[in-house]
Amino acid sequence: MYTEKVMDHFMHPRNVGEIENASGVGTVGNAKCGDIMRIYLDIDENQIVRDAKFKTFGCGAAIATSSMATEMIIGKSVQEALQVTNKAVMEALGGLPPVKVHCSLLAEQAVHAALWDYAKKNGLVIEGLKPPVDDVDELEDEEA
Ligand code: FES
Repeated sequence: MYTEKVMDHFMHPRNVGEIENASGVGTVGNAKCGDIMRIYLDIDENQIVRDAKFKTFGCGAAIATSSMATEMIIGKSVQEALQVTNKAVMEALGGLPPVKVHCSLLAEQAVHAALWDYAKKNGLVIEGLKPPVDDVDELEDEEA
């Protein structure tokens, strides 16, 4: 049911861990399944994501999507990182089973929450960035 890419990122996740003194940290959860994801960003003075790490207390799809999401945002500007949607992450993984789509939202929203934290700490406004939600389940209801 999972693509080879999903299995690869689940079995060998990239960028697991923490960043000390991170530029931004974002934590989101999904109350329905109880899974939680935290993303750490190291952003340089030109607003480029120098490094990204994650910790995911969640299912295999959540781990695979956080791994892929961090890979996709490293080296990007904060504005480009914001464009890395859950759909883009899913596409990069070759798709997810429909019941697992919500897991990819966790990755997208954790990145947004970390960007929000970065913006707040630096008194910046990142165009198009919305305030983070604690529970991504609310967003799913909106999308449905
Ligand atoms: Fe909760 Fe996948 S089942 S994030």
